[in-house]
Amino acid sequence: MSPEKPTILVTGGAGYIGSHAVLALLRSGYEVVILDNLVYGHRDLVETALKVELVVGDTSDRSLLDRLFQSREIAAVMHFSAYAYVGESVTDPAKYYRNNVLGTLTLLEAMLAASVNKFVFSSTCATYGVPEVIPIPEDHPQNPINPYGATKLMVERILSDFDAAYDFKSVIFRYFNAAGADPGGLLGEDHNPETHLIPLVLQTALGKRESISVFGTDYPTPDGTCIRDYIHVNDLADAHVLGLEYLLKGGDSGVFNLGNGNGFSVKEVIDTAKHVTGADIKVTECDRRPGDPPVLIGSSDKARKILGWQPQYSSLEEIISHAWQWHKQRHK
Ligand SMILES: NC(=O)c1ccc[n+]([C@@H]2O[C@H](COP(=O)([O-])OP(=O)(O)OC[C@H]3O[C@@H](n4cnc5c(N)ncnc54)[C@H](O)[C@@H]3O)[C@@H](O)[C@H]2O)c1
Repeated sequence: MSPEKPTILVTGGAGYIGSHAVLALLRSGYEVVILDNLVYGHRDLVETALKVELVVGDTSDRSLLDRLFQSREIAAVMHFSAYAYVGESVTDPAKYYRNNVLGTLTLLEAMLAASVNKFVFSSTCATYGVPEVIPIPEDHPQNPINPYGATKLMVERILSDFDAAYDFKSVIFRYFNAAGADPGGLLGEDHNPETHLIPLVLQTALGKRESISVFGTDYPTPDGTCIRDYIHVNDLADAHVLGLEYLLKGGDSGVFNLGNGNGFSVKEVIDTAKHVTGADIKVTECDRRPGDPPVLIGSSDKARKILGWQPQYSSLEEIISHAWQWHKQRHK
């Protein structure tokens, strides 16, 4: 083993959260190889901001995976790649089960064949479904209400069974709403199509959209709009490095929520964005969307206690300011 820190394979490293995790890994001294099929990822960000090896390919390509593991000494895999559009998962579930479950199983089998048994997985609060208690703890029942959440729950089950059968160790992170951008301005969120609230609000501030739609203003919340838990993407990225190091030191498999523990309403997000951007953001009030719980907030005490995770950015103002800095230069 070389004295340098080991090489980590990051699937989906050309995407939003994966690219921030790659930056955090590089800042912590790791070598990184990205595997991304570029269906949604951005080659330019890998080349200009990350400057690491990008293997363009798919997690369902077993022979590519075998070559990847044979030609490098990979110590662990961070697995971000997936499709993540909830609405599309309802209309085209096959696409989601194929990519998110089968693609992941192919990757896991290639890892077994290469004797790589450390895995950090991007799961989601969508595996909980409609919450029974707030803040949601990790042992909350998991009853996903859409195929996207179901695909992530299936992978969680596979990982638990792999641990029991093959001593395969994983850290499962259930994220709440990832938001913000690297404060250095190198990276940020660029989904196409975009469905997340903060980038949509900022696109409206930039004049790229007429108005922002608010779905439901009669929820049982203080201002009538839905409340969500927004977690800064750099805090997510830091948690991934901690989760990886926990596994590399021999830690047992574990499941951790990653949220900031504070909820912000849709109206608060829009008002803060108005303040940060100085723009008058037009709002269109619409009916509630089916399947949107009024409040989703996670408890991340376990990640703090076991991994020593300390999120740096708890204010909505900071999260939106970093996202705004990125959006202004990316979409000018
Ligand atoms: N964004 C959020 O708020 C959020 C919340 C909870 C969970 N997650 C999960 O986090 C992960 C990353 O989300 P994101 O917002 O960065 O998404 P993203 O779309 O920006 O990134 C995913 C990347 O994976 C790549 N990809 C998809 N399928 C692939 C395949 N089969 N082989 C190789 N590459 C493939 C895409 O090209 C893209 O670059 C996803 O697994 C998502 O389900 C995201």
